[in-house]
Amino acid sequence: MNDEEKNLNILLETASAEFGSALEMLAACKLSDKSNLCSGYFNHAKDEYNHAETLMSFLSKFGRKTSTKIAREYRFNTRSLIGKYLSRDGFLVETMNIKDFIAYVYTNELLAKESFEGILNLLKPNTKEGKQISLIMQDELRHHGLAKKYFLKHYPKLQPWHLKAYKLKGTISNKGRKFYFKNLRFLDKLFSPLYLLMAYFAGVTVSFLNLNEFNKKGKNLMELSPKSII
Ligand SMILES: [Fe+2]
Ligand SMILES: [Fe+2]
Repeated sequence: MNDEEKNLNILLETASAEFGSALEMLAACKLSDKSNLCSGYFNHAKDEYNHAETLMSFLSKFGRKTSTKIAREYRFNTRSLIGKYLSRDGFLVETMNIKDFIAYVYTNELLAKESFEGILNLLKPNTKEGKQISLIMQDELRHHGLAKKYFLKHYPKLQPWHLKAYKLKGTISNKGRKFYFKNLRFLDKLFSPLYLLMAYFAGVTVSFLNLNEFNKKGKNLMELSPKSII
């Protein structure tokens, strides 16, 4: 992967993560029983959609500067979110208890802000794009702060080390996920030619088979031997 591809990949992955967060927040809004909580989640979802849209606009801008073949490989696709940024088991708010869910939001917003620092360096802080990234970082810190406020209000017995432990857990699972998908991509590259070769030989073998035995056109099916393969 050259530098150009690496940059497109970072923009694509971040746009996907932001889009996934927007859907998670919308699901949380839908399931919340308090109107103020629902409006908080809704505004959070709106911010994440805007972040995803900004990143997608950068992706298309950078994509236009590269070859069509490469740009096509890094095109945003909602189907790629499933399994990687959205669980197949359901939205987080449906599968986690509320305390773990808020802890997840708390840690991931901070991790998101940190990962935007890398994108800011990539796009340069003084450019128009860099300024848009700085605004996104401010949003992420605000989201992190809101989750922290909720946490301290509803779980006052929580100690600072609990929050640090949640952050460590979030960092490890994020790194694990990145490692898993990086290797998945590598294995896909490794095995795809093998699968194509196997499919080719299967096709060649079938073309040499005499399939007349299977041609039952015009025959009375009731008279066929019970051992025959129809
Ligand atoms: Fe975001
Ligand atoms: Fe956020």
